[in-house]
Amino acid sequence: MSRQKITIVGAGNVGGSVAQRLAEKSGYDIVLVDIVEGLPQGKALDLAQAGAVCGYDSPIRGSERYDDTADSDVVVVTSGIARKPGMSRSELLETNTKIVRSVVQEVATRSPAAVLVIVANPLDAMTHVAYRVSGFPKERVVGMAGILDSARFCTFIAQELNVSVHNVHAMVLGGHGDAMVPLIRHTTVAGRPVDQWMSKERLDALVKRTRGGGGEIVSLLKTGSAYYAPAASVVEMVEAIIRDEHKVLPCAALCEGEYGLKGTYMGVPIRLGKTGVEEILEYDLTPDEKAAFEESAQGVRDLCEEVDKILGL
Ligand code: NAI
Ligand code: 2OP
Repeated sequence: MSRQKITIVGAGNVGGSVAQRLAEKSGYDIVLVDIVEGLPQGKALDLAQAGAVCGYDSPIRGSERYDDTADSDVVVVTSGIARKPGMSRSELLETNTKIVRSVVQEVATRSPAAVLVIVANPLDAMTHVAYRVSGFPKERVVGMAGILDSARFCTFIAQELNVSVHNVHAMVLGGHGDAMVPLIRHTTVAGRPVDQWMSKERLDALVKRTRGGGGEIVSLLKTGSAYYAPAASVVEMVEAIIRDEHKVLPCAALCEGEYGLKGTYMGVPIRLGKTGVEEILEYDLTPDEKAAFEESAQGVRDLCEEVDKILGL
């Protein structure tokens, strides 16, 4: 059986970590692309040599040439600048719109059947750019953020209660920004609703920390943003697609009617398989959750309007 081909554009912190996680699983043909000469080749060679020690044998190539990405099954777009302390995700807008536009133009023509997984920030707006520029159907352009935001929420709850993170299940919806929407009613610890485990004050504090979870890491790292948990989240999506898992995950998908939105990319629960977004699942939201979701959507719409101006649309 031929190996599934996965291209990762951007061989930086997130892209390099995605490549490492995928290489360690064996079974995939991996192409790593970057604009910086030598960087993708260097990381690919280093990862191949790690395979001799770790026991994996994944073909992994680094390149600056998009012809090497042809006929990919999945393309992950991590190319873009990352936040520095004091910067919001939206401050990355203009630079990353231009980077994502040029990258998506290159990959879309060479891998017309691929599913695009967008990572660059501001996430929902960059997924909108990829959708507009690629001309792909909405099912095949999807953004990564909700898995990461949910993982952060689960981690904070587990640490607070001193229980295994495996006992915690949560879903964070909305745009990937400070107005994201953790669904408290759907958050459980060992099957029991989270609000039965702690006071409202403590839970509110964990929600606040989750909303600022990306910024917390930026202020600690000082030179960039998180990458281990983001890469793990990307790999969960890539494998759901490649293995046709039909997995329900919170991801940025184009809502056209769902959740009352008209043509807006937002973090929502989707069923993900080899054709991409198979379905957007509509959860019942409380009036407070609806209001928070709408506020988050307005923020995304504002960014997308700016993006459309940059794209000349
Ligand atoms: P990084 O700076 O380590 O890597 C970015 C890479 O993109 C660099 O190697 C750079 O040379 C490359 N690049 C820039 N322009 C390019 C172009 N035109 N073509 C090909 N490659 C190009 O940054 P990091 O930490 O990997 O983050 C990447 C992006 O992902 C950032 O925008 C960051 O904000 C975003 N991010 C999003 C997350 C999410 O939850 N959606 C989580 C973590 C990061
Ligand atoms: C994060 O949430 C930077 O968006 C990225 O870590």
